[in-house]
Amino acid sequence: MDSRSPGHVDQLNADAPWDYFDPRTYIEHNYRSMVAEDEEIIAVVRSHFSDHFRRNPAERIQGIDVGAGANLYPALAMLPWCEEITLLDRSAANVSYLEAQVDRYDPNWDQFWDALCRSGPYAALGSDPRTRFRRAVRIEKGNLFDLVRREGKWSMGTMFFVAESMTTSRKEFRSAVECFMRALAPGAPFAAAFMEHSMGYAVGQNQFPACDVSESQVRDSIVGFAGNVETCRMGQPNVLREGYTGMILACGLRDPDTVESRPFGRHHL
Ligand SMILES: C[S@@+](CC[C@H](N)C(=O)[O-])C[C@H]1O[C@@H](n2cnc3c(N)ncnc32)[C@H](O)[C@@H]1O
Repeated sequence: MDSRSPGHVDQLNADAPWDYFDPRTYIEHNYRSMVAEDEEIIAVVRSHFSDHFRRNPAERIQGIDVGAGANLYPALAMLPWCEEITLLDRSAANVSYLEAQVDRYDPNWDQFWDALCRSGPYAALGSDPRTRFRRAVRIEKGNLFDLVRREGKWSMGTMFFVAESMTTSRKEFRSAVECFMRALAPGAPFAAAFMEHSMGYAVGQNQFPACDVSESQVRDSIVGFAGNVETCRMGQPNVLREGYTGMILACGLRDPDTVESRPFGRHHL
C-alpha cells in the first residue's frame, strides 16, 4: 500500500531501521560514479554559495549538513567558507562511515570535488582539500528533530535527500524542513535536495520510508522561512532506483522577516 492509498498508516521516522542503513551499499549505488543529476545539483549549489559569499564575504563560519549519511559532497560544497562543519546523522552505521572518512576520505569523492572546483573559491583551496576537510569536519550522532534546542546556530547549511527520505508522513516531512531552516542563522545560505514523488527505497536488505512530495510542496515547506527560495527539478524517473520521478533542489537564504510564527518543535506533528 503506498502513502496515497486509503487506509494507509504512515511509517514514521522513529520506526525505520536507521542503524542498519548500509553506507557501502548506498555509496555503491549512488556515489561510486557521479550521475548527471549530481553534476547539475553541484553546478547550481556551487554558484549559489560562491555568488552569495562574493557579495557578502565571510570566512571561518560554522556550517551544518543535516542527515549527512554516506554523502560527502554537501560538506565539500561548504568547505571554502567554513571553519567548522557539523555532519549530523541519527544512524550509527552512517556515523561510523563518516568517522572513518575524516582523516582521509575515499577517492570516489574526488570527482565531486573536481566538479566543485569549476568555481574559484573551491579551486583556491588548492590540491589538498582532505587536510581542510579533516580540520573542519565534526561528526555528530543525533536526531534532526532535536535541533529545536539550537535555533539560529549555523551560518550556512545543507540537507540532501533527508526530509522526504526519512518518513512517509507529510507532517514529519514539513517538520524536518522546519527544523533544518530554524537551525540556520538569519541570512544563512542553504541548499536542500529532495527526491520527487518517492515511494520509499531499499538499501541492501532494509527498506526505508519516503514521503511523496512535488516541487510545489517542497517550495511551500520552505517559503515561510526563506521567502526568496528558488527551486528547480532535474533528472529522469527511476535512474537510481524504481519509484521516483526526479530530483528537486532548493536554494536560498534564511530570512528573518518571513519566519513562521508557530512555535518550533515536534508538538505540531
Ligand atoms: C536517503 S539518506 C541521505 C543521505 C545523504 N544526505 C545523501 O545525500 O545521500 C537519509 C539520511 O537521513 C538520516 N536520518 C534519518 N532520520 C534522521 C533524523 N531524524 N535525524 C538525523 N538524520 C536522520 C539517515 O540516517 C540517512 O543518513
